[in-house]
Amino acid sequence: MWWSHNRKRLWMMMTTTFWIVSHGFLHPRMMPHYYPLMELNQDIEKIHKVKVMGKNMVCYKNGNGTYIVHTDVCPHQGASLSKGWINEYGNLQCPYHGFEFCSGMFCKIPNPELGPPHFRSKIRMTVYPTRQENGMLFLSPISSQTLSPPDPFFPPEEYDESFRAVSGSTIIHRPYMMVCENLLDMLHISYVHSFGNAVSPLPHSIRYFPTGNVSGRTEFHYKPNDFTISNRIGKVSKVIVHNEYHLPTNTITRVIAGDVIKTVFTRSLPVHKNKTILYWKVYRNFWQDPYFPWFSRIGDWLLETLMKSTIQEDLDILKNVYPEFREGRLKTKYDVTIQKFRESVRDAILTSQDMYNNASHTDNRYLEAFHDVESF
Ligand code: FES
Ligand SMILES: [Fe+2]
Repeated sequence: MWWSHNRKRLWMMMTTTFWIVSHGFLHPRMMPHYYPLMELNQDIEKIHKVKVMGKNMVCYKNGNGTYIVHTDVCPHQGASLSKGWINEYGNLQCPYHGFEFCSGMFCKIPNPELGPPHFRSKIRMTVYPTRQENGMLFLSPISSQTLSPPDPFFPPEEYDESFRAVSGSTIIHRPYMMVCENLLDMLHISYVHSFGNAVSPLPHSIRYFPTGNVSGRTEFHYKPNDFTISNRIGKVSKVIVHNEYHLPTNTITRVIAGDVIKTVFTRSLPVHKNKTILYWKVYRNFWQDPYFPWFSRIGDWLLETLMKSTIQEDLDILKNVYPEFREGRLKTKYDVTIQKFRESVRDAILTSQDMYNNASHTDNRYLEAFHDVESF
């Protein structure tokens, strides 16, 4: 008698709360591209709580070694799943009542006498696709069997053995668009950065061209000053700078002085309205010697120190920029990369919203993905 009663309750709970979904969107303002979620050099066996576009998510490795990312909110009574643990079967167990979830699906209540040891239920959380590449875990905002975003972007330097790199990450309490636009802004360099050329701040020539459907590059030609790394290392009369964007949040600043190349590559994770994690990597084809590793390590230290002080100089100015007035009506030709980036972002967000609207027309249960997001 008690068993049939409990079985009935279990069945009702399995069928009434959540349904299988084939699409899911983290946030309607996310672009249909892979975003950087975390570096994989940290303690990857742990459960991680991550926040993306204001939405609380949990990230963990299941029994097959696959990274699973879904909402951090338990579909039973709302406990934070990231405070739970991964058991011997690779299932995520909620800390409140111990319910188990197999890759997002409710699959066990921790009392074997009350029912089968495992079951397949319709109670599922939307699981967002992940990709691991070159030490970084990426997250797609769209969970779909039919739509897949393009591969995560890496600059060519990543695969070129003549380059050596240092990398790091910085938390910035500013909106992600402001952070990206600052990285695509060559004009502030002479004023904000100690290595900038205040004597001749403007480039001799400037040329923008698209490099793909979701990317573009501006090429600047400068005269180096006596204090720039380019001049000290390269001893050249001309410096070329490539400033590029690749959706969703990747930027490149490639400084070319003769044979010497220094490339700053960044990607940003929008954490919430006013918080961004900036992942950066600085590549160089100089200050390295295979026979004297200490020489290369000193080069690493110098580049890392320079990058950190550069970011600090940016933070000092960005904290005094009004986010809602970034797109002022005074525009110059030097702002072209930012303009093109904004246009591409708007197009991509419209595409994403179309996909969301089409999905929600056919099944308004997709709205499940929006319960705990902030508006951007
Ligand atoms: S709140 Fe998670 S099992 Fe009850
Ligand atoms: Fe800067």
